[in-house]
Amino acid sequence: MHTPWDHRYAQRTQRMGSSAIRELLKFTEQPDMISFAGGMPAPEVFPVQEFKEACIRVLTDYGPTALQYGATEGYKPLLEMIARHTHRYGINVSIENIMITSGSQQALDLLGKIFINRGDRILVESPTYLGAMQAWNAYGAEYVAVPSDENGMVTEELEEALRTGPKFIYVLPNFQNPTGVTLSMKRRHQLVELADRYGVPIIEDDPYGQLRFEGEHLPSVVVLDDQFRGNHNVYHGNVIYLSTFSKILAPGIRLAWVIAPAEVIRKMVQAKQGIDLHTATFNQIVAHEVGKSGFLDEHVKLIRETYRTRRDVMLEVMEETMPPGVNWTHPEGGLFLWATMPPQCDAAQILKLAIEQKVAFVPGAPFFPCGGGANTMRLNFSNATPEKIQEGMVRLAHLLQRAVCP
Ligand SMILES: Cc1ncc(COP(=O)(O)O)c(C=O)c1O
Repeated sequence: MHTPWDHRYAQRTQRMGSSAIRELLKFTEQPDMISFAGGMPAPEVFPVQEFKEACIRVLTDYGPTALQYGATEGYKPLLEMIARHTHRYGINVSIENIMITSGSQQALDLLGKIFINRGDRILVESPTYLGAMQAWNAYGAEYVAVPSDENGMVTEELEEALRTGPKFIYVLPNFQNPTGVTLSMKRRHQLVELADRYGVPIIEDDPYGQLRFEGEHLPSVVVLDDQFRGNHNVYHGNVIYLSTFSKILAPGIRLAWVIAPAEVIRKMVQAKQGIDLHTATFNQIVAHEVGKSGFLDEHVKLIRETYRTRRDVMLEVMEETMPPGVNWTHPEGGLFLWATMPPQCDAAQILKLAIEQKVAFVPGAPFFPCGGGANTMRLNFSNATPEKIQEGMVRLAHLLQRAVCP
C-alpha cells in the first residue's frame, strides 16, 4: 500500500531486510507443523512454577521498586549475581564491567551503535549468527569472512583476514549458531594470540556455553585472553563477552548481560538510554529472585539432559535415513546442528516442499556473510519433543532422498 512515508526512509533502512527466520516462523506457527526452524528452547523445561512463586514474592516484598523505573546499567543484586557467576568461570569483574540488556540481541545492536561506522569491516566466521548481521547492517557494516569447519573458525586463515584491518572480531566459540560446532582449544589460543598481534579486539557471543552435554568444558576466549596477558583472574578488556538468560531460564523475559571495560559500558549505557532507558525492572528482580539460591545450577542440568536426548534422536534418525552425500555436524551442546547437501541441492527450494509436508528448517544461505551456502540447512533440536523429532526427520529425509538422488 502507498503511504506518505514511502520516500522518507533513512538510507540505513534500505539495508534492513526482514529475517528469513522470522518469515519462516510464520509457517511454523501452524499447529500441525514440525519445526526445526526457530532457535526456541524446549517449553517443557521452562520453570513456570518458580517464576510464579518469585513473582508473588517480588510483588509482596519489593512491589513499588519492581514497578518503578530503574538504573540503565541494571538491577544491582542481579549485576552482583552475574559478577559471582563470572568469577566462578575464571574472570574477576566488578559490577562496573557488567550491564544488563534486553536480550543479547540488544547488546549486539548497542555495540554496533557505539563502534560501527559505515564501511567498517567486521571479521566474522562464516557462517555466522544472522541476528548480529541484521543488527550491524543498519550501521553500514561490511564483513570479512573466515571459513569454519568442525572445529570452529579456521584460525589458520585468520591472519590474512586480520591484515584487512577489521574493527573487531565477532566469534561464537561454543555450539555455534548456526552450525553447532565448538572452537577447539588450540584455535582459541591461536585466536587470542593473533588478535593481540594485530591489535584487534574480540566480541565473544556465548549464549550456549553452559549447555554442554558431552565432553569437557573449554575456557572462554575472554578467560584465555586474560591468561595470555599473564595475570590470572583479572579482566583486561580485550574481549567483550555476551551471554543471556534466554537459553538457561526463558527468552520471554528478555534478559542478557555484557562484560566489557567500564569505559565501554558507560558508552553502551548512554546508547541504551536513547533506546529503552533500562531493561524491565520487574523482570530483572524476578530473574534475580529465581536465580539467587543456586537454582540455575540445578536447572541447567535438566536442560542439558533434555537437549542431549533430543540431539541423540535427531542424529540417530539422520544416520538411518539420510541419503549418501548429506553430511552433518555432531554438536556437543547447544540447540542446533548443521547439514550440508551435495552442491546441486538448493535448501530454499527444498524448504518449500518441506512446508507442504509440514516440516520446517532454516536454509543456510542467509548465515553466510559473503554469499554461498545454498546447499546447507540449520536444524534445531531443542524445541520439538523426541517423538516429533523422529517423525519430522523421517519426513525430511524422504524429501532429501528425492532431492539428492532424484
Ligand atoms: C549467537 C546468538 N547471539 C545472540 C542471540 C540473542 O539472544 P537473546 O535472546 O538474549 O536476545 C542468539 C539467540 O538465539 C544467538 O544465537
